[in-house]
Amino acid sequence: MSARGDLSTKQQRAGFLATPIAKLLRKYAWRYRWSYLAGGAFLWLTNLLAVSIPGEIGKAVDALRVSQPLGGYVGAIALMGLALIGVRTLSRILIFNPGRHVEYHLRRDLFSRLLKLQPSFYAEHQRGDIVSRAANDISWVRTMVGYGGLQIINVTFAVILTGWKMLALSPRLTLVVLLPVLAGMAVVQWGIRKLFHLSLRNQEQLGEISEHVLGSIQGMATIQGFVAEDAFTQRFEERNQSWLRTGMKLALVRAIALPILVLAGGIAMFALLAVGGPLVLEGRLTVGDLAAFTALLTVFLPPLRSLGWMLSVLQRGRAALDRIFELMDAPIERPEGDEGLVLERGKGPSIEFRDLSFAYPDQPEQMVLENVSARIDPGAVIGLFGRTGSGKSTLLRLVARHYNPPPGSVLVDDHDVTCLDLDAWRERLAMVPQRPFLFSESVAANVGLDDPPSPERIDRALSMAAFNTDLEVLPHGLQTVVGERGIMLSGGQRQRVALARGLYRQGDLLILDDVLSAVDHETEAELVATIADLARQPQKLTVFIASHRLSALQYADLILVLERGRIVDQGSHRELISRKGVYRDTWDAQRRRDAVGGAGEVAS
Ligand SMILES: Nc1ncnc2c1ncn2[C@@H]1O[C@H](COP(=O)(O)OP(=O)(O)OP(=O)(O)O)[C@@H](O)[C@H]1O
Ligand SMILES: [Mg+2]
Repeated sequence: MSARGDLSTKQQRAGFLATPIAKLLRKYAWRYRWSYLAGGAFLWLTNLLAVSIPGEIGKAVDALRVSQPLGGYVGAIALMGLALIGVRTLSRILIFNPGRHVEYHLRRDLFSRLLKLQPSFYAEHQRGDIVSRAANDISWVRTMVGYGGLQIINVTFAVILTGWKMLALSPRLTLVVLLPVLAGMAVVQWGIRKLFHLSLRNQEQLGEISEHVLGSIQGMATIQGFVAEDAFTQRFEERNQSWLRTGMKLALVRAIALPILVLAGGIAMFALLAVGGPLVLEGRLTVGDLAAFTALLTVFLPPLRSLGWMLSVLQRGRAALDRIFELMDAPIERPEGDEGLVLERGKGPSIEFRDLSFAYPDQPEQMVLENVSARIDPGAVIGLFGRTGSGKSTLLRLVARHYNPPPGSVLVDDHDVTCLDLDAWRERLAMVPQRPFLFSESVAANVGLDDPPSPERIDRALSMAAFNTDLEVLPHGLQTVVGERGIMLSGGQRQRVALARGLYRQGDLLILDDVLSAVDHETEAELVATIADLARQPQKLTVFIASHRLSALQYADLILVLERGRIVDQGSHRELISRKGVYRDTWDAQRRRDAVGGAGEVAS
């Protein structure tokens, strides 16, 4: 029995240590303990002065009754009042400031955590929600550890000190005063739970609103182009209304819960006068003592009133903290742990797919790749061909470990790719994704993501990516800022800036996912020449090229033909066009189209 008891206490302790509040205290608030301690000391002094003044008032009242001189009491009360202002200000500064620091550190850690989380995480979380947690929830936490912290200490001290002084004056009256207050607290308990859940819901709804606003701003051209403003306003309205409804409920719970404490305070005052008055009349208590007691109660009432508000701040903060730590504790998918393998670099790695099957985590039943097996020599150029949706991009994402393939199914230089140190592996490879992302910075800054970038390498990468002629027409050349997501560039230009970014990297594994999808014939020829050039550097680089344009694949050493996630054929360009199949059909069709003088395949 006792062993079980021990176990459950231990579990409870471990349980508490794992709660967001405990983590916050341990990781963020503990380092400001001295500030809190000093602030606490000043707060103690504040309360001590506040409860001592009534005693002096009581003595002054009694002195007045027997016509003694009042000067000493008045001087003492004035001095204590002044000191009270000083220590109160100091205590607030010392306790509020850590709140700001905690907010700063939390925000910093959250951002660096966000940079570590992988695409599978972002597939499941909305941007608006993340932004809302990083902005709104973090400021709630600040309010909690600053204002909330101050109030907790304050109320505790006020209760201890006034209780002590009251007891010294009259234990009986103390009991009379305390009973209504305790009853009020018991009633308020129910509201606390409710406040927490409503706060959580309210903050989630704010996240949904942010997501809707972010998405709408990003897709503004589409909304306006399709005259869909009304529909989007309506969707916004729905979210905004649910937020309002929860906010109203929150206000209702607060409106019911808080006055109960105020009421309890009023009853306490009434009870004090009802019981204390007769005691004075009977001569068992001096008028001064009753006045002092009343003054003590007025010192105690404001913290009691703010207790309600504080409880609501604490519940909001706790809800916010839960949401923040949900992000902070989201697992970073690094199966290699802290001691991942770092392979020797400098030459293109060999890659092997060994019976690779894969489904995206959010759709585990739908296999996107099935039993893919192939061996790629070091420094080879590999073409990937297949209809749209056949799994080309997915295969490349697995090589780049945007998602982790099942263990043992993708090997790099005979080592499981999931055992490699992720950062070291990514530093070796340059991936140009099918839907590249450009930052709202200059062309140069978009190509050289390192700090500081090398201008010569930027020039070289841009010219390899056939971007030179485009540079001439950009208003500020290399320094032209490309606008949000590269909005000021054409689709093909965006693609080539991203290609230049990949070439700039000078890794030894280059992954080009459909980089020819939005270029004209002339540019295509230039890029194909670049690819052929890369192919001519044996051993140095392993290159993957996924493309619908077969012109880009003709220099590949090996082309894998994918259909619905399976490899249905493989061989060199020459071999594949010499036999029947989807590859030759496409080749014939593209040649016919090119011969007629069509603009080639338009963006897919
Ligand atoms: N993030 C994702 N989550 C879930 N399913 C996905 C995801 N990305 C792609 N898919 C699905 O995986 C399948 C293969 O997609 P993939 O992008 O690999 O095809 P692809 O061969 O590159 O096509 P395309 O030629 O159009 O670029 C598709 O059915 C697609 O719906
Ligand atoms: Mg693709």
